[in-house]
Amino acid sequence: MNIALGNDHIVTDTKIALCDFLKARGHNVIDVGTHDFTRTHYPIYGKRVGELVASGEADLGVVLCGTGIGIANAVNKVPGARCALVRDMTTALYARRHLNANVIGFGGRITGLFLIQDIAEAFIGAAYEPTAASDELVAKVDAVEHADPDQADPHFFDEFLEAWDRGAYQG
Ligand code: RB5
Repeated sequence: MNIALGNDHIVTDTKIALCDFLKARGHNVIDVGTHDFTRTHYPIYGKRVGELVASGEADLGVVLCGTGIGIANAVNKVPGARCALVRDMTTALYARRHLNANVIGFGGRITGLFLIQDIAEAFIGAAYEPTAASDELVAKVDAVEHADPDQADPHFFDEFLEAWDRGAYQG
């Protein structure tokens, strides 16, 4: 499968280990970054993963930040992306099978690497099991999404990145 993978600087080491794990299981991993430990903005990478999944370029996505909260929320701002932030197998499988989640999120400082790997593998191996009721619920959630044309701009985050580079967020 094509798996989009994104993270912030807090958990790059965990992301690299997860990336290797998924590749070893035959997946084509689209690693959107970040790739090092330099402070950055998690929404950049959540947005990229959400867009890859929503467009169909990736089958599913996996995101990580310190707690997982920030990057999972960023994914969920992309119409068509449905990210579940999880810490256990039952929630992850429920999200995939019954809520048609297409991205799974983890707190890399909250959940251990081995558990993240096992849950990610199970999520990727599971499939949505549609019923009339679950289709209706997912459609209702999709119906309240509105695309923001500004969000398609590849320079959407530039002002924040420039501010970051200027040191505006330090101290
Ligand atoms: C660091 O930016 C931290 O806020 C982030 O990794 C995450 O924990 C947010 O939810």
